[in-house]
Amino acid sequence: MKFFIDTANLAQIKEANELGILDGVTTNPSLMAKEGIKGDEAVKNHYKTICELVDGDISAEVISTDFDGIIAEGKVLAAIHPNIVVKVPMIKDGVKALKWFTDNGIKTNCTLVFSAGQAILAAKAGATYVSPFVGRIDDGNWDGMELIGQIAQIYSLQGFKTQILAASIRSSLHIVRAAELGADVCTCPLDPILGLLKHPLTDIGLAKFLEDARKMQQ
Ligand code: G3P
Repeated sequence: MKFFIDTANLAQIKEANELGILDGVTTNPSLMAKEGIKGDEAVKNHYKTICELVDGDISAEVISTDFDGIIAEGKVLAAIHPNIVVKVPMIKDGVKALKWFTDNGIKTNCTLVFSAGQAILAAKAGATYVSPFVGRIDDGNWDGMELIGQIAQIYSLQGFKTQILAASIRSSLHIVRAAELGADVCTCPLDPILGLLKHPLTDIGLAKFLEDARKMQQ
């Protein structure tokens, strides 16, 4: 399973990248706004900086909702860097645009996916990635992980090539479950990634080893 970080924060992207386990970055308009980025040029420059920091797929989201607008925006985003993946919402014109981008060799990430039916449409349109929003499904008292398992089963049965990108991942356990259920990629903030490091027995064991090592040096 590939690890993407879900943030537009450069310090967090650098920290995850330095761990050596980062395969890409996902962003969305909310994450970009959180960094105080304003204006088309600033947005483009920020994506360029991220692409120069991380050697992997970088999702950049369109904000148009009509076919022509999505295509025009997607072309501009894709021209920033070869690693840009155009992130398109799961709406009718979005599906048409996914197909157009696929036919024109531009990688895509279909976002805001909350059902298996939507995931089938994204795959039929040839999306590179499909992003089911696990945490937001959990927020509504449904099990977001069930959707990951369902999509994985359908894609495997049907031979769809679209990669399942488990998104809206909020905890380290989400990451483990996504891996168990066959997600191809997991995208999440830095904290759940660092949370994977933690186990009290590791800390206790290391303290004991270091204590015994000190005894050997006395
Ligand atoms: O990748 C989608 C993600 O950014 C949404 O996460 O936590 O806002 O539901 P969240």
